Amino acid sequence: MDLFEYQAKELFAKHNVPTTPGRVTDSAEDAKAIAEEIGKPVMVKAQVKTGGRGKAGGVKYAETADDAFTHAQNILGLDIKGHVVKKLLVAEASDIAEEYYISFLLDRSNRTYLAMCSVEGGMEIEEVAASKPDRLARVPVDATKGVDEAFAREIAEKGHLPEEVLDAAAVTIAKLWEVFVKEDATLVEVNPLVRTPDDQILALDGKVTLDANADFRHEDHAEFEDKDASDPLEQKAKEHDLNYVKLDGQVGIIGNGAGLVMSTLDVVAYAGEKHGGVKPANFLDIGGGASAEVMAAGLDVILGDEQVKSVFVNVFGGITACDAVANGIVNALKILGDEANKPLVVRLDGNNVEEGRRILAEAKHPLVTEVGTMDDAADKAAELANK
Ligand SMILES: Nc1ncnc2c1ncn2[C@@H]1O[C@H](COP(=O)(O)OP(=O)(O)OP(=O)(O)O)[C@@H](O)[C@H]1O
Ligand SMILES: [Mg+2]
Repeated sequence: MDLFEYQAKELFAKHNVPTTPGRVTDSAEDAKAIAEEIGKPVMVKAQVKTGGRGKAGGVKYAETADDAFTHAQNILGLDIKGHVVKKLLVAEASDIAEEYYISFLLDRSNRTYLAMCSVEGGMEIEEVAASKPDRLARVPVDATKGVDEAFAREIAEKGHLPEEVLDAAAVTIAKLWEVFVKEDATLVEVNPLVRTPDDQILALDGKVTLDANADFRHEDHAEFEDKDASDPLEQKAKEHDLNYVKLDGQVGIIGNGAGLVMSTLDVVAYAGEKHGGVKPANFLDIGGGASAEVMAAGLDVILGDEQVKSVFVNVFGGITACDAVANGIVNALKILGDEANKPLVVRLDGNNVEEGRRILAEAKHPLVTEVGTMDDAADKAAELANK
């Protein structure tokens, strides 16, 4: 999960990374009030999850509270690379002597963590990497050793930060590593990390990506979720712990196992070419246990998608055998009642397939068609979606 700048800074504050005081808001009146509270010139900053906000006019200096009001009015509603600004951070404007760059990230190709540091901050780091690669230090971080102040100082030195600020920078960089580890982030980036005229080091921007696999040990991270942005169906699926991704086709897909679901998307897309170009409407992996409740929750999410015209349930019976899945489908349809209103094509294979087919046949549900092979079932589902 990517965080907004203001959220990244909340985590920074928790780990004592120095930054400028400020507050987030969604109204220009309130932006003015915050500026008055701060009582000094402020920066009004668009909160969107994309880079280049400054260039797009989303970061403005306000000398007075009235200026803050005007800037806030202009920035709210601004479209920055397809992201509409709904929130602003109003933060004390800091005096800047120099702007640096620092980040910690997961370096997947080298199977390690990586620190990147440069004296050339403020601008896009890709640009620095391209035009002045020798000014951008890339320092691998051994996960078992981490980053203490001594190593942080080395990183700053390799990034060509000036001698006078190395100690102060080392303290901040070590704290940013603490954010990276303690909050289970896959990215912590500060651009710019600034030097003030009195040689303080402050994080004036913050970009953090949290590892969702570690959510279970960070209850406090739940509040960072941007409910506005997520699709309502994806939201509902999440509440049921389902692995669901909304796509834009017409054939709803349910399967057990990510690999099977992926290949189901492929065969449906292929079959759809013969049936008016219909496509898969979603990815939904119900995982190993296909109980009636899970099946009902999955169907409920998929049937809630207005674009869906037919549903393809593709299950390979393994640990959960086909008879259990068949019972799951039959009972799910009972649970859903009238809400189940679109044709279902079911393909079962694997453990206890005969018994599973018998259960479906016996139930004689008017919406259910059982088809023997994956290709034929995909074809049937695509055909039904094109009616
Ligand atoms: N609190 C602040 N005080 C003074 N100047 C600031 C402050 N915050 C930002 N700035 C200035 O504005 C510039 C752009 O701000 P920031 O880095 O937050 O946005 P950006 O880089 O344009 O956006 P993104 O990080 O999304 O690409 C900074 O490089 C800095 O010069
Ligand atoms: Mg920036």
